[in-house]
Amino acid sequence: MYYIGVDLGTSAVKLIMADRDGHIISSLTKEYPLCFPHPGWSEQNPEDWKTAVFDGLTELVDGFDASKVAGISFGGQMHGLVVLDEKDEVIRPAILWNDGRTQKETDYLNNVIGKDVLSAETANIAFAGFTAPKILWMKENEPENFAKIKKIMLPKDYIAYCLTGVFSTDYSDASGMLLLDVKNKKWSAKMCEICGIEPTVLPGLYESYEVTGTVKAEIAEKLRFTDSVKVCAGAGDNAAAAIGTGVVGNGGCNISLGTSGTVFISSEEFKVDENNALHSFDHADGNYHLMGCMLSAASCNKWWMDEIVKTKDYAGEQAKIKNLGENHVFFLPYLMGERSPHNNPDARATFIGLTMDSTREDMTQAVLEGVAFGLRDSVEIARGLGIPLTKTRICGGGAKSPLWRKIITNVLNMEVERITSEEGPGLGAAILAMVGCKEYGSVKEAVESIVKVLDTERPDPELVSKYEEQYRKFKLIYPACEPIFGKMK
Ligand code: XUL
Repeated sequence: MYYIGVDLGTSAVKLIMADRDGHIISSLTKEYPLCFPHPGWSEQNPEDWKTAVFDGLTELVDGFDASKVAGISFGGQMHGLVVLDEKDEVIRPAILWNDGRTQKETDYLNNVIGKDVLSAETANIAFAGFTAPKILWMKENEPENFAKIKKIMLPKDYIAYCLTGVFSTDYSDASGMLLLDVKNKKWSAKMCEICGIEPTVLPGLYESYEVTGTVKAEIAEKLRFTDSVKVCAGAGDNAAAAIGTGVVGNGGCNISLGTSGTVFISSEEFKVDENNALHSFDHADGNYHLMGCMLSAASCNKWWMDEIVKTKDYAGEQAKIKNLGENHVFFLPYLMGERSPHNNPDARATFIGLTMDSTREDMTQAVLEGVAFGLRDSVEIARGLGIPLTKTRICGGGAKSPLWRKIITNVLNMEVERITSEEGPGLGAAILAMVGCKEYGSVKEAVESIVKVLDTERPDPELVSKYEEQYRKFKLIYPACEPIFGKMK
């Protein structure tokens, strides 16, 4: 039988079709526009996702026996606010995870409602990209739209709703709304009250691997599916990526180097970082995780290469970099503000340390290193909580660069493992569908059978010590710049 994983990302949707052993039978990517209507705002049209997914599914099964498709599941960009009216029409463009418009609402939640209340209700505090502050923003700035809301959903759940007609979400993705009691896996009535919404506008909650429904008959017919293709709830993209790299149970770590950069630590027990610098969310294996999230990671290098250096030859540019650990140029990677650890939508990217002999290679290196230092910030918080991080898996577009993997390995002083499949969240989503369709008894059993390590980058003590020194310098930059960031608008 075949299982389809839909990875609904920020720049594109990636679809894969796999067999029960995780072999990829067919895969494709479809891009859609990302819109920045004001500096720091970030929106997408849910109809664009729908078109890309439906066209993509048609192409994905083209030339294959579509009657062998047994299940579909999702990994989705998290936190996005999708709102539907009483006719199930999308009310306004989705406000995405990397949108920074909600400073006022975030401050209100953290300072007036209070971090203690938020943490007690949801295990988290407010960050500008989370869903609840966006609901408050709509209430204040678009009251006529707010009044029309009949359903609130996350990006991947909109696609699932279009496929099945079932209004559902999963615990991992719901964790990022600041409306879920993460520990007890139920909506927080108090958070609904604070946001001025009825709990009935929120979707039904499922474990990521649970079946929520079947593909609607008319869609199944068009795709040449049988009438019993199961749809499983799926997960937020980071939890799906962790499944795709086999990070389940206690103490596993996955770094996702995509548009965002995340450090994801799986745990069988519910844990909260008392400063709430790391998010405390549910995991797609039925357990929990802690996560730090940088808003711009591989996107920093993409911006630097595409927009400034004006080349697509990323590998060629990186081949010229020789002096690892000795760069005098530093880069703060905050092109969209920053979530972990600073929680500051006004933070900005900065090159610092330039001299007359600085080269383009130094600046390219600084971008790669700046992102690695940003990841280290989250790793340090986790280490401070007593989590001994010595090894991680890695996935995402940026992880394809051997140089970047080497830098990350030595900046973090962790072994970095790549797995045989590059399809992190897509494979994770397909695995969730396999579990929902009872190919495996649990997510753990499935990943133990499917996920294999391809190679391991090991820290080099000399480089680790050089990067230790470099990280200390990096840590001086944000506090020095922070007082002026708010004045840069
Ligand atoms: C996680 C986060 C990002 C998005 C990217 O909290 O905001 O990683 O999920 O799609």
